[in-house]
Amino acid sequence: LNGVPGFPLPTVHSQKAYDPQDSFTAKWTRADAMQIKAHSDTSVAAGQNSLPQQLVMPDVPADFPATNPDVWVWDTWTLIDKKANQFSYNGWEVIFCLTADKNAGYGFDDRHTHARIGYFYRRAGVPASRRPANGGWIYGGHLIPEGAQEQVFAGTDYTITAEWSGSMRLLDPTSNKVSLFYTDMAFNRNAAGQDITPSQAVITQSLGQIHADFNHVWFTGFTTHTPLLRPDGVLYQNGAQNPYYNFRDPFTFEDPQHPGVNYMVFEGNTAGQRGTADCTAEDLGYRTNDPHAETVQQVLSTGAYYQKANIGLAVAENSSLSKWKFLPPLISANCVNDQTERPQMYIKDGKYYIFTISHRTTYAAGVDGPDGVYGFVGNGIRSDFQPMNYGSGLMLGNPTDLNEAAGTDYDANPNQNPRAFQSYSHYVMPDGLVESFIDTVEGRRGGALSPTVKVRLRGDASVVDTRYGNNGLGGYGDISANRAAINVVGF
Ligand code: FRU
Repeated sequence: LNGVPGFPLPTVHSQKAYDPQDSFTAKWTRADAMQIKAHSDTSVAAGQNSLPQQLVMPDVPADFPATNPDVWVWDTWTLIDKKANQFSYNGWEVIFCLTADKNAGYGFDDRHTHARIGYFYRRAGVPASRRPANGGWIYGGHLIPEGAQEQVFAGTDYTITAEWSGSMRLLDPTSNKVSLFYTDMAFNRNAAGQDITPSQAVITQSLGQIHADFNHVWFTGFTTHTPLLRPDGVLYQNGAQNPYYNFRDPFTFEDPQHPGVNYMVFEGNTAGQRGTADCTAEDLGYRTNDPHAETVQQVLSTGAYYQKANIGLAVAENSSLSKWKFLPPLISANCVNDQTERPQMYIKDGKYYIFTISHRTTYAAGVDGPDGVYGFVGNGIRSDFQPMNYGSGLMLGNPTDLNEAAGTDYDANPNQNPRAFQSYSHYVMPDGLVESFIDTVEGRRGGALSPTVKVRLRGDASVVDTRYGNNGLGGYGDISANRAAINVVGF
């Protein structure tokens, strides 16, 4: 890798695989993340995109269609097997989305404490060009019977609960049994919305059945909710250590190198008391004698140690996937970023990619990057992961001017690109197709499915495929199956 004049070199990462049980944690270092700024154009007019065009999601039009008139839609996932193949069921495509009632009197930014997993379906095998502009998803309602997920919090104090992201496994393509892995959330807040005690985040399993006839899709089950993992404060930070801890978004898979073993990746934080100034030279990742290196003291003096994301790993201890054990994190981002969300393991051509979403506003002091997808590649599920693209980690960002302050999705900086928050919560599907939700485009709030885009992967580099769809933008919510499950019992 050649350096950029005026910037440090990225950290050397071998991509070498370790045993999944090993304690080696790869680092997404400051030297790595610094490559994003190194490749950002300082001469663009204010509010343009300063990032390399091939890593940027094309502009989402401001006249995007709503996915549904009654519910906001954000984080979305599909019906997958242990290899992340996406299944249709008896001729229907199905998606699972965090949803919130548009008519309940709270705003889009209050959605998180009202989140319910909803499902949508549409007929499989229809090209995007012959579907309604919004993708044609029919809303099926909530997946979990009202209040059933509160059993996980029995005997604890809480004022409101929510269902946050996860994934859905089709346990066997010849049956209708499905396993939901999601984040069961309980908040204990006063009338002003402040935490009385830290929120509880519990990675939870619930089993159900999918059904379909010629007219619709529906689900039964999801009445029993089994808590799988609570952060232990040893490998993964908990609420006692940091009321702002992140612990959520389970994604399960099998590793072809370890047949029959099920693993889970999830969003976590490095364990320890919030505010402990302990980032190390390894977290910074500079090469010996790099003239542009920061010292540990310099970094710690900025407060960058408040941001300590990690990508967690757990292993299933039984075949029904109802007992899991923590393993050490796969990647940490100490003094780099506080959130590595909705991680997924994507195995292609013998390479193991971890994709995760992150925000500009969760970066530590002195490092910067856009909202979007970050990627890391190695030779096994636990590796010395190489951050994608110039060693930076950035894979698919929103159009952003890194020379201007971020602003927020609800309160834009007028000098920022009006699409810096156009999309979020991307999920990479088979063939490099990427779905996400629309947050804010030119001040218009979304809560709708984004146009699907396509990323082409070549080793540790990627590009947005501008030959896909309309100059790179596919259909809104074009989330298609690449496999079909046919269950004769269901007919
Ligand atoms: C990503 C995310 C997830 C979480 C959900 C809550 O958009 O932060 O990590 O499960 O949103 O709404």
